[in-house]
Amino acid sequence: MSDALNYLLKVRKDVVEPYFKALKQGGKHLDVKTRSLLSVITKVDAQTEAGLKQYLVRALRDGNSADEILDAMLVCLPTLGMSKIIWAVDIILKMNLPDFNPELIGKEKQWYKLIAINELEEGISRHDYDGRACFINKKGDEHHVYDSRCPHQAADISLSSLEDTTLTCARHQWKFNVGNGECIENGNRPLNRIEFKIEDGFVYVYS
Ligand code: FES
Repeated sequence: MSDALNYLLKVRKDVVEPYFKALKQGGKHLDVKTRSLLSVITKVDAQTEAGLKQYLVRALRDGNSADEILDAMLVCLPTLGMSKIIWAVDIILKMNLPDFNPELIGKEKQWYKLIAINELEEGISRHDYDGRACFINKKGDEHHVYDSRCPHQAADISLSSLEDTTLTCARHQWKFNVGNGECIENGNRPLNRIEFKIEDGFVYVYS
């Protein structure tokens, strides 16, 4: 949320809070994916860059594919106009999201072999695959696998930010506990988990 909205919520709570409630209520008959697509469209229409980045990441997290997001924008072409769509696509491309990579777009999810389990060190490690990356946190026989992209606006989180058990996203300083992925400071969403399996002595991710 912007500083201005936070300010208004503080000093004019009685006026601003019902507005947010109405927005929420207005979408109660829509499924999650549709609602998040519509949120993306509103941000493209209003041309708010931070909002677009945030809602784009949410739309992906809610299960929309890059194809579905592009389709949603294109079916709204008559009202958005091509220049706003181009504006949005420029921002999306600068975000460098693997989902929008022309070589990955439309590609079915599949299993990727990452590393032999006996080569995996205790603690957290970063692994690249097919133009993306993930973190594996190993504690004995327990493993957690997280997307390296920040759940806020999808900045790629560097392993060099690790301090003890905390990863920090350089863009807006959200901090995450690698033990459970929870956001512990500055933000409100956990690291995105990636489905994984250990088979024939190797770690695989489904992505
Ligand atoms: S992109 Fe904003 S904190 Fe990571």
